[in-house]
Amino acid sequence: MLDELDFRSDTVTQPTEQMRRAMASAKVGDDVFGDDPTVNELQEYAADLVGHEAAMYVCSGTMGNLTSILSHTGRGDGVLMGVGSHTWINECGNVAVVAGVMPFPLDDRAGIPTIESIRAGLQTPNVHHAVTTLLTLENTHNSSGGVPIDPETFSSVAREAKSLGLKVHLDGARVFDAAAFFKTDVKVYTREVDSVQLCLSKGLGAPMGSLLCGGRQFMERARKYRKMLGGGQRQVGIAAAAGLVALRDMRGRLSEDHSNALLLADLLREIGIEVEQLPRRTNMVYFRTPSAIRDESLFTAACLEKGLRLNPSGRERIRMVTHIGIDESSVRRASEIIKEVISR
Ligand SMILES: Cc1ncc(COP(=O)(O)O)c(C=O)c1O
Repeated sequence: MLDELDFRSDTVTQPTEQMRRAMASAKVGDDVFGDDPTVNELQEYAADLVGHEAAMYVCSGTMGNLTSILSHTGRGDGVLMGVGSHTWINECGNVAVVAGVMPFPLDDRAGIPTIESIRAGLQTPNVHHAVTTLLTLENTHNSSGGVPIDPETFSSVAREAKSLGLKVHLDGARVFDAAAFFKTDVKVYTREVDSVQLCLSKGLGAPMGSLLCGGRQFMERARKYRKMLGGGQRQVGIAAAAGLVALRDMRGRLSEDHSNALLLADLLREIGIEVEQLPRRTNMVYFRTPSAIRDESLFTAACLEKGLRLNPSGRERIRMVTHIGIDESSVRRASEIIKEVISR
């Protein structure tokens, strides 16, 4: 457990003892030459896990999504993207600045755009229009509450996009949470898409790293773009060793985070907090700042004074995320602190 109650994100975790031991004894080599045995093992394990031909280790989820978009598109292409997606909101506009593509906004408040909105978003063949070549999806969907998309809906959307001639990239930063929620093999999602980005540093608890998975030829292009972005690393097996532990051993505990988030949502409701309703909950709880302190920065500052770290997530909106550093007693303590803050 962490010394403090840190609910800002599932990225705040400390590596486990097993991860630290694996890092200390990792066999390494120069990964730009493809010589790092631990990176190679991680890449093969990940590709096999998601049913794709190849995988590539990258330093972050943002780099995984960007190298994927660069590898699927050409300059000036149109990319259909949910306006609530991480790629749209939280990756510094890199698809415009670096990839030079034109993002077309889709409504993804339900966690995934509808088939109708994808059809409507496609540009007609016309000399004036950007050619739409790619759809990006996200599962679980962070900004709509960490909601997991059910396998049937996900595959019908991905299949329809493909039948319209689009490639499909999945930002699967937390796709193992979706698989854990539906108690299913992650391949029910990943085999439906042309590429997927998996974060090791979220609920799986590794200190860094993501994997981009896809076809062999696609990955050759992606390796080039990773190098172009300065993401070719050398003896990075040191970090990949923790990633291997994360991918092999940590998927099985994600449902604990989901139970803790459910408990947290219930406890917050009991003390009068307006928790956002969700059809399905994984490891996130979003809520409206209480009427006692509406300003999100003042509210989080008041909680921090009592040792509780929270993430303001827009105007009068707060996000709390459960993870390996949070157990049931941390959840109970957090709700007590919030109760004290709003009743003082
Ligand atoms: C859904 C989603 N995608 C991508 C990322 C980016 O990952 P990173 O912070 O490793 O760049 C995040 C980070 O929180 C995320 O929540």
